[in-house]
Amino acid sequence: MDKVAIVTGSASGIGFETALALAREGYHTYATMRDIKKGDKILEITKKENLQLRVIELDVNNENTIKKAVEVILDEKKRIDVLVNNAGYFLVGCLEDLTISDLKDQFETNFFGVVRTIQAVLPTMRNQKSGIIVNVSSVAGRIGFPVTPGYISSKFALEGLSESMRYELFPFGIKTIIIEPGVIKTNLFATLKKVTKPDSAYKEITEKVMKGLLMMSEMGTPPQEVAKTIIKAVASDNPLPRYPVGNDAIMFLEAKKDKTDIEFENYIKKELFS
Ligand SMILES: NC(=O)c1ccc[n+]([C@@H]2O[C@H](COP(=O)([O-])OP(=O)(O)OC[C@H]3O[C@@H](n4cnc5c(N)ncnc54)[C@H](OP(=O)(O)O)[C@@H]3O)[C@@H](O)[C@H]2O)c1
Repeated sequence: MDKVAIVTGSASGIGFETALALAREGYHTYATMRDIKKGDKILEITKKENLQLRVIELDVNNENTIKKAVEVILDEKKRIDVLVNNAGYFLVGCLEDLTISDLKDQFETNFFGVVRTIQAVLPTMRNQKSGIIVNVSSVAGRIGFPVTPGYISSKFALEGLSESMRYELFPFGIKTIIIEPGVIKTNLFATLKKVTKPDSAYKEITEKVMKGLLMMSEMGTPPQEVAKTIIKAVASDNPLPRYPVGNDAIMFLEAKKDKTDIEFENYIKKELFS
């Protein structure tokens, strides 16, 4: 039987590599993106490697495009085995500098976009009694950090959602997993949305954290590593709830595990303020 995979945000970075990796594993892959004009590169590789990959439109903020994409897939393939919720963007700015609208937009894509897409595939997966949902969170979904509270809280919300739906869906044979990359070398940093008020009280910390993030992004883990982890998790009969990716993610999560909240806060403060 042909296995079918959907990836959101496949125009670049982790989504691009994951869609290709799934197609190379033999999945009929729907590399979805909000602007299909960005699909030329993935289609060129598809043709060269003779893969089963199609580019279709899906904007996670637009219910109609999600509905239409799922209709097309079910019409063509009659099933959905893997959904990778990857689309997202990076909002940077301290809480007092952000507007409610900045925060709502961040949640619209990073959290509600995931909810919308999951709800659109669940009836099919439940009827099949099988499927796996892969939610691309972040190490930022487990660890608070200054200057990125909007992004971090959207990923914390995604972690809570994923952990809860895992219980709801396992009786129907549907698996849920969370991917927690550290800093990955992708477009995320070039396309981030930075918000600072002209008279911001947080200019110094914002610039310091931004500088550190941009430096780290240059040395980030390649997105292919995230794709490899997703392939391994999807192939597992009993996938773990969470998969960190990258040495930085593993280091931070290990440090958090071994420390009390106060000890961990002091560790982050030392990294940031000394
Ligand atoms: N890079 C990192 O360090 C890192 C670390 C941890 C987690 N992550 C997560 O990994 C995921 C992928 O990010 P990336 O690093 O691969 O960055 P990226 O190259 O910027 O990819 C993000 C993708 O999401 C798409 N997207 C944004 N809004 C969308 C929408 N409304 N509907 C559909 N697609 C949309 C973008 O498409 P457009 O080209 O049309 O904007 C882009 O292709 C994100 O969820 C991010 O939070 C990244």
